[in-house]
Amino acid sequence: MTRVVRTRAELRDALAASPRPYGLVPTMGWLHEGHRALMGRARAENATTVVSIFVNPRQFGDAADLAQYPRNEARDVATCEAEGVDIVFAPPVEEVYPPGFDTVVTVGAIARPLEGAARPGHFDGVATVVAILFNLVGAERAYFGQKDAQQVAVIRRMAIDLATPTEVIACPTIREADGLAMSSRNVHLTPDERRAAPVLRRALLAARSAWEDGERSAEALRARMRIELASEPLASVDYVSVADAASLRELDRVEGPALLSLAVRFGSTRLIDNEALGAPGP
Ligand code: PAJ
Repeated sequence: MTRVVRTRAELRDALAASPRPYGLVPTMGWLHEGHRALMGRARAENATTVVSIFVNPRQFGDAADLAQYPRNEARDVATCEAEGVDIVFAPPVEEVYPPGFDTVVTVGAIARPLEGAARPGHFDGVATVVAILFNLVGAERAYFGQKDAQQVAVIRRMAIDLATPTEVIACPTIREADGLAMSSRNVHLTPDERRAAPVLRRALLAARSAWEDGERSAEALRARMRIELASEPLASVDYVSVADAASLRELDRVEGPALLSLAVRFGSTRLIDNEALGAPGP
């Protein structure tokens, strides 16, 4: 049975009655196969699985994006039930951010490029809410998707620097049959945009295959991605990146592990994806 709790106190009581180790899967709901894979892994490796469902206002740049974010708690709870989740923490905003809330977790260099540059304040919001969730749950392990590669890197940095006892575990990206990475935002795509969206994956794979053929110029790999993206008229490129896997700094030459990543808009929907070259990502 999945128990749904909404307050810090209810969460504390539910945890006190649950065996360790705890595995935590933080989410913003509208759960899909990507989330389910994280839950499955958490369940396999822990005695108690906790899923948080909280659309975190602090990580959204504009109010419209926040208001548009899809929600269906009843369906999400049913998904958690089906995955054997023990506790769903679905708090109102004031249970996460108590009155007078005035503390922000800012991660430095790793949070600045890519999504950090495109979405000012985003990673402050992510790091702050994840730090709070880590403290509230006290899990042995927490599970995140490689789909948001920079997010994993930011949270890892935060967990190390703040001596968080929770181990941060990255899990592979789950995709639709045509290669589109699963995302809660995919629901906003029109049918034409949905048909166009796998171009993100094609662009990444085109650059990967150039790299496998020996191309080491980062600019040539970026150009390869841009060419592929340009083949899709509905796609408007936000950025394409070939960065050092550890620092996420843009590269001139790809000599070691690297991260290919991109952000592309289809109408008002912004999608991201990435591909690691050479070794585990950041
Ligand atoms: P959300 O977008 O709901 O994603 C929750 C977790 O699911 C993240 O770790 C994300 O990387 C992972 N995920 C999303 N799509 C995936 C896919 N296709 N394959 C594998 N994993 C996938 O990311 C957030 O929420 C928030 O920023 C959060 C960490 C909860 C903080 O508010």
